[in-house]
Amino acid sequence: MNLTIRDKLYEQAKEWVLEAGNTIREKINDPLTINTKSDRNDLVTTMDRNTEYFFMTNIKKTYPDHLIISEEGYGDELQSLDGTVWIIDPIDGTMNFVHQKRNFAISVGIYHNGVGEIGFIYDVMADNLYSAKRGEGAFKNKMALSPLSDQKSIYDSILGLNHFWLCKNRLVEEDVIQELVKTVRGTRTFGSAALEFAYVAEGIMDGYMTMGLDPWDIAAGIVIVNETGGRTTDAFGGSLDLLRKSSVLTCNPAIQEKIVNEYMEKGKK
Ligand code: IPD
Ligand code: CA
Ligand code: CA
Repeated sequence: MNLTIRDKLYEQAKEWVLEAGNTIREKINDPLTINTKSDRNDLVTTMDRNTEYFFMTNIKKTYPDHLIISEEGYGDELQSLDGTVWIIDPIDGTMNFVHQKRNFAISVGIYHNGVGEIGFIYDVMADNLYSAKRGEGAFKNKMALSPLSDQKSIYDSILGLNHFWLCKNRLVEEDVIQELVKTVRGTRTFGSAALEFAYVAEGIMDGYMTMGLDPWDIAAGIVIVNETGGRTTDAFGGSLDLLRKSSVLTCNPAIQEKIVNEYMEKGKK
């Protein structure tokens, strides 16, 4: 992608992300209509839908040839990542949005012919914008994020992990996950995949691993984590396909191989 075009696209996308966040903040205490999707814990609100609609109408009006992959149904049905594709989660962490009114993010990744060019993760209530352009580093607001240390030991690491890994009949033997949990310094669960990616990029968490995420949960995060030298694969070290759901591991490169080889591969069912 031509760099001048990309810079303009970045500025425009940033403006929309901030505007959408501002609207959510203004309406945070308004009554919500909450519905469920695949199960009783899979929540969606009018705010999720309205925010996605805001992005879709602006993108289609300004860039009629751009395509959209998004969660709430206003996007396109894509079979490939050819062209310029916006991958959008209007609210990542809807459960947090509903229950906590914080700890959720707007996630927007822009890919060109399958290459992640731009990423935004906006922690709306904290007003923290994580952003990156491929090859130009990652930022938290105006502060450049430091490259992740390649000296990190797994014993000193904090890993984002949720309890689903410890349930029976999952992707990996339960005792192997228990071993991993005991090996690392601590585990955390924040309830927003996008924010967990941002925290890995920021270096305040060393890895985040989860069993099933959609493209809109991770597209922006991949670009931002890449720019700090982190790696994102599926939970077994394989490459990700942004057209489908997959397990995900994003982390400091110093611990990635160890997690994959000594735990995930070993415990794979
Ligand atoms: C969810 C959040 C959550 C993750 C789920 C996602 P949503 O996204 O990122 O942290 O564990 O798998 O579906 O539904 O709030 O956009
Ligand atoms: Ca999501
Ligand atoms: Ca969502």
